[in-house]
Amino acid sequence: MGLLRSLVMMLLLIWFLWLPGHRAQLPNSEHELDALLQNYAYKALVRPKTGLPYDGDVPPDLIGIKVAALRLRSGSLRRKGVPMYKEFEIPVGVIERPYVERLVLVYQNLGNWSERYYSLAGYTHLAPVLGLLAYNASNLSATNLPVLDIRASGDPLTIKFSDVKSVPDGFVAMCVWFDLQGNPNFSNVASGNECSTIQQGHFAIVVNSTAFPPPSREHGKKNKSKVWIIVGSVLGGLLLLVLLLFLVLWVHKLKERKKMQQMERAADVGEALQMTSVGETKAPAAMVTRTQPTLENEYVP
Ligand SMILES: *[C@@H]1O[C@H](CO)[C@@H](O)[C@H](O)[C@H]1NC(C)=O
Ligand SMILES: *[C@@H]1O[C@H](CO)[C@@H](O)[C@H](O)[C@H]1NC(C)=O
Ligand SMILES: *[C@@H]1O[C@H](CO)[C@@H](O)[C@H](O)[C@H]1NC(C)=O
Ligand SMILES: *[C@@H]1O[C@H](CO)[C@@H](O)[C@H](O)[C@H]1NC(C)=O
Ligand SMILES: *[C@@H]1O[C@H](CO)[C@@H](O)[C@H](O)[C@H]1NC(C)=O
Repeated sequence: MGLLRSLVMMLLLIWFLWLPGHRAQLPNSEHELDALLQNYAYKALVRPKTGLPYDGDVPPDLIGIKVAALRLRSGSLRRKGVPMYKEFEIPVGVIERPYVERLVLVYQNLGNWSERYYSLAGYTHLAPVLGLLAYNASNLSATNLPVLDIRASGDPLTIKFSDVKSVPDGFVAMCVWFDLQGNPNFSNVASGNECSTIQQGHFAIVVNSTAFPPPSREHGKKNKSKVWIIVGSVLGGLLLLVLLLFLVLWVHKLKERKKMQQMERAADVGEALQMTSVGETKAPAAMVTRTQPTLENEYVP
């Protein structure tokens, strides 16, 4: 019996591990993703030096995304800018609103997650989405911080994308800036890989995708595999249920047979006869091997 029980437990365990609900919940929106990445970027700031960028870790479910955090005094940002922070060139004259004494610039590189969170119907990304968002640096363990509004009062910020896919002949690459609500706004690419901005947000280089296989195909593939996972786990679950049912029935039968054997043995030895009620009266009964005792009056018409 111990073996059977552990077998059942093991089957149940395998089934639970199979269920897709086991995976952690991914952020549902750009906004939720920003909040999560702020949290993870801030974790990299353990006794940080002002003006040095620190790379953060992302949760295992979001592998492919890179984050970093840079803590600055507000005055230093305005007077000196940041010559190079990853792909961002921040000129002098950038001010934040509302004013904070120190701020953290959170950098995001969404890598292969770009299309998932910043897909643009009719366009294909040629470079990953990069984000630059400013937050209050007063409390480095704070979460769900509001994004500060940063604005270039002089020259704009420049974004120098590093791995831009080549543009197909006859098509023109565009810079796209997504505001905090995710609304896109297009501008021209400079020097093949540069975009500029006067404020915070997310940036990418895209091309009108009529030249590419429609991205919906990839989407469909993903959806299909999702459907297959669900169908697979439901079928797997049903199969396991049926197996379990058989197991339970088998165990039940085994138990009954054992009981019966015991009873037969007991009857043969002639001790501890089980009493069964037959009609109104009690009579000794030894099942199967003997004919059932019946009351004579039952035969009387
Ligand atoms: C991005 O790539 C990583 C592995 O490099 C993978 O685990 C992850 O699922 C990918 N993300 C998407 C949205 O495809
Ligand atoms: C893409 O380009 C084609 C032709 O150049 C144009 O007809 C179409 O409207 C464009 N699509 C988008 C989404 O801009
Ligand atoms: C920044 O955070 C500190 C401490 O949490 C708070 O006192 C201050 O009001 C915040 N500043 C802004 C502009 O939110
Ligand atoms: C910083 O934020 C954390 C998390 O919200 C909070 O528990 C803590 O009290 C805050 N510290 C200060 C000094 O405001
Ligand atoms: C988008 O860009 C155009 C000019 O390129 C500008 O007129 C418009 O105000 C911008 N939209 C937003 C929401 O900033």
